[in-house]
Amino acid sequence: MRQDHEYLTIALTKGRLASQTLALLEKAGYYCDEMKEEGTRKLIFTNEEQKLRFFLAKGPDVPTYVEYGAADLGVVGSDIILEENRRAYEVLDLGFGKCRMCVCGPEAAKPLLQHHEMIRVASKYPEIAREYFHNKKHQTVDIIKLNGSVELGPIVGLSDVIVDIVETGGTLKANGMGALETICELSARMIVNQVSMQMQTRRIRDMIADVRKAMQEA
Ligand code: PRP
Repeated sequence: MRQDHEYLTIALTKGRLASQTLALLEKAGYYCDEMKEEGTRKLIFTNEEQKLRFFLAKGPDVPTYVEYGAADLGVVGSDIILEENRRAYEVLDLGFGKCRMCVCGPEAAKPLLQHHEMIRVASKYPEIAREYFHNKKHQTVDIIKLNGSVELGPIVGLSDVIVDIVETGGTLKANGMGALETICELSARMIVNQVSMQMQTRRIRDMIADVRKAMQEA
C-alpha cells in the first residue's frame, strides 16, 4: 500500500552508513533530530516542519521498501543494489562507504582461479558471485550462501575462496588471506521509487540537487 504524498519517506541503512548519510543530509538542509535520541526504540522518525519521515532498515531490505513505494527514497550500498536487483532509479553516488567487492582467499587458491578450476565459493552475495564467475569469467563454480563472517569459509574448509567486501583488508590479513581478484568498486548510493519520481518530481529533484551541492562543498 502506498503512503500519502504529504511526507517524503526515506529509508536508511542501519549501521555504518546511517551516521554518514544523516550528516550529509543535514549538510544539505534536511534534518531529523528525533533520530539522534539515544536508546530510542522508535522505528520511524518524523520531521513535521519539513514533512520528512525517516526509518532505519537492514541493508538488503532498503531496495525492497523503495521498489514497493513504502519509501520514496533510500540510501544503500551498491553491493546490495547489485545483489537484490530491485526496481528503482539509482540517482546519486554519495561518495562514502567506499570499498571493493573481491574474490578473496589464501595464496594457494590463486592457481584455482587462473586455471578456471571447479571451486567452491562462499558468499553473502551469491548473485554477485554467480554473475562474476558464470557470466564474466565463464568459470563453473559451486556457490554457497553464508550470512556473515564469510572469512571462515576457507579456514574451516567449507570453500576454496570467498566473494566479499574489502575495505581496509584488515579482516582478510588477520585470517591469512588476501584479495585475489577485484569484481567491482562499491559506495553508498541514493535510490528512488519509480512512481515517486513521477509523482513528486520537484521535491525529489530538489533534494538530489541539494545533496549533490552539499557533497561538492565537502
Ligand atoms: C565486512 C566484510 C568483511 C569486512 C571487511 O563485514 O564482510 O568481513 O567488513 O572490512 P575490512 O577490509 O576493513 O577488514 P561486516 O563487518 O559488515 O560483517 P559480516 O562479517 O557479518 O559480514
